[in-house]
Amino acid sequence: MSILYNEEKRTITLQTRNSTYQMKIDELNTVLHTYYGEKTADDDMSYAIHRIDRGLSGNPAEIAKIDRSYSLDTLPQEYSGFGTGDYRVTAARVLHGDGTQALRFRYAGHEIYPGKYSIPGLPAAYDDADDAMTLALTLKDTEANVTAILYYGVFEKADVITRAVKLINDGPEPKVVNKVASVNLDFIGDDLDMITFYGRWARERTPEREHVTHGIHSIGSVRGSSSPHYSPSVILCDPTADEFTGSAYGVTFVYSCEFELEIEKDMINNTRLVLGIHPDNFAWTLQPGEVFDAPEAILTYSANGISEMSNNLHRFIRKHIVRGPWRDARRPVLINNWEGTYFNFDGDKLVSIAADAATLGVEMFVLDDGWFGKRDDDNSGLGDWFPNEKKLGCTIEELGKRIKATGVKFGIWFEPEAVSEDSDLYRTHPDWAVTIPGRKPNLSRNELILDLSRVDVQDYLIKCMSDVIRAAQIDYVKWDYNRSICDKYSHALPKERQGEMTHRFMLGTYRVLEALLTEFPDLLIEGCSSGGGRFDAGMMYYTPQIWGSDDTDPIERLEIQYGTSFIYPVSTVGSHVSATPNHQTGRVTPLDTRGIVAMSGTFGYELDINKMSAEEKDEVQRQISVFKELYSTIQYGNYYRLTTPFDHTCTVWEMADEDGARAVVNAVYHAVRANPAPVFVKVKGLKKEAKYTMRLMEAPGLMYPLDTRQQAVFDGETLYSGQTLMTRGFYIPAYRKEYQGWQIIIEEK
Ligand code: DGJ
Repeated sequence: MSILYNEEKRTITLQTRNSTYQMKIDELNTVLHTYYGEKTADDDMSYAIHRIDRGLSGNPAEIAKIDRSYSLDTLPQEYSGFGTGDYRVTAARVLHGDGTQALRFRYAGHEIYPGKYSIPGLPAAYDDADDAMTLALTLKDTEANVTAILYYGVFEKADVITRAVKLINDGPEPKVVNKVASVNLDFIGDDLDMITFYGRWARERTPEREHVTHGIHSIGSVRGSSSPHYSPSVILCDPTADEFTGSAYGVTFVYSCEFELEIEKDMINNTRLVLGIHPDNFAWTLQPGEVFDAPEAILTYSANGISEMSNNLHRFIRKHIVRGPWRDARRPVLINNWEGTYFNFDGDKLVSIAADAATLGVEMFVLDDGWFGKRDDDNSGLGDWFPNEKKLGCTIEELGKRIKATGVKFGIWFEPEAVSEDSDLYRTHPDWAVTIPGRKPNLSRNELILDLSRVDVQDYLIKCMSDVIRAAQIDYVKWDYNRSICDKYSHALPKERQGEMTHRFMLGTYRVLEALLTEFPDLLIEGCSSGGGRFDAGMMYYTPQIWGSDDTDPIERLEIQYGTSFIYPVSTVGSHVSATPNHQTGRVTPLDTRGIVAMSGTFGYELDINKMSAEEKDEVQRQISVFKELYSTIQYGNYYRLTTPFDHTCTVWEMADEDGARAVVNAVYHAVRANPAPVFVKVKGLKKEAKYTMRLMEAPGLMYPLDTRQQAVFDGETLYSGQTLMTRGFYIPAYRKEYQGWQIIIEEK
């Protein structure tokens, strides 16, 4: 039983394989949080809560005269309410009919049942392996007539606990939910570091680690997406924790829109984490009896460092978030024409790219932006999802047939949430765009946002997109989203419901995605938002892979993919080999290095393959066969960050099969130095007693071969014990050229 209720002690303990989480219903029916961390017994751990009378921290009426040590301001709680004596950041705030916003929740019952709860209209982890149990904990504020049901999904084997919240208006009049966090997690006395991920277009998910000091630390997005600016995730860890030692908690939001993450270290050194929908653009009216479902968050803990925490999340996202046939099937190696042609193509050019690519082992051709409406640059046409037959030289059905005749699958690009002012759609339905009456809206890439909070807009998109998918027998959709939302107003909502627009927009987007997957269950959708601008576990429920970044420079990608790997698995990261000099940075890099970096993702190409030399085509063919050979290790193995691209001259990372039978060590020198210091690594995840060989995957035409001594180390024949490789380790071969990349396969014999 992974959820234990102790009736006598009134504790509820959640047990996963390696972690324990506990709450306690106290004498006033407040649900206290007593513990989350390394696995332990289900003793009542509320003894560890420190209680004394602390001036300026008041006491609830029912106990004030008896015990001044009881204060909501200092107690660790499962779910805190605003304005009733807890002065820290709180989880929920509701505007009642009398103009007050106070909430105080007390225990009102709970249910424990096998399986995993789901959330209407929202992405959520699922359980198809009988691994999960649900705790539904009902809290009530009987004075304010509000119920909060806290849901906990306990995935014992996966070492994960999910959380979600449902708010219900029990009163006789409408209420407005102004804040409803999905997670309130209180840490008692722990000294913590916090790792968050910031970025911008083409620089997504840069990790930043800082000590959690007193005060409120907050990140979030008010951009209508989870955003590249801050990722909707956080790691909290011991200040001494590193990749392989120490306590680390990972929290990530299963939501793709505006979020706020607040971390407050309070006056007595307790820390509270609150994560939920960002309250700035949020005000949701609940009529009597109505319900609001807040999105889900995923929590995991490791006592063995950040790396194990990352791998818990990777495994969980791969197995319990990503759905459908593409969860387990090998995804196709693709070629995308964007950086190859931009808007400048016709049907013949597309077919010639597909044909060349097919001969080298590429399995899917993706037609990017520019195939529809009037769209020869990025100033017009969005919303008119009707093939431009003049430009293509044929119908989309015919193009689909011609592409498939080359032997590859066919994918196509959409940007469903966008509309150009210069489009038939906007001319016909100006009120379908998100604009504030009387105010000229911001344009971004000359786009407006389509109001997906409207059902008519959702239906329009479902119809247009499915017509194209059906006609051309599309196997894959690249779902792009290239701007942030502002000037928020829905022409279909009354003024008192404008605060619902942003979340309704997200629900509408999810509905369109779900409708397409229902009609086309084998469709592979790749998410994209000017690269990795909406890279979150919410999207991964619909889109098993997401374009990692518009920055395809492999040296820049080392940092982006390193940052991404803290939370998200390789199998979700869209990554392509592009042309050199790189279109974003002008950097010139070797083709084999570009291949090694792109292989730590879903792998594909984004260049004009017709322009490649015969030697380059040979190298493409070699890379694709290496990728196919190593696929299971790369996509499903454990991931280890062996050096960081920020502090070293060589970035080294490894993937190892869960059973330790094979590992792939990748290394890229991103800086060159004369007389360099050697780069030393210890392999992770092997079997101590087993014997392994090391094999260097060399690209033909490598400028300078390795000397015989180094070649002997990686000859694919010499045997090393797993223990030796993990304790003694080895040196990465020195570089022979700028931006040298190496790929070393370690196999059990
Ligand atoms: C932004 C995406 O990130 C690119 O890959 C490409 O699809 C362009 N949009 C097309 O407009």
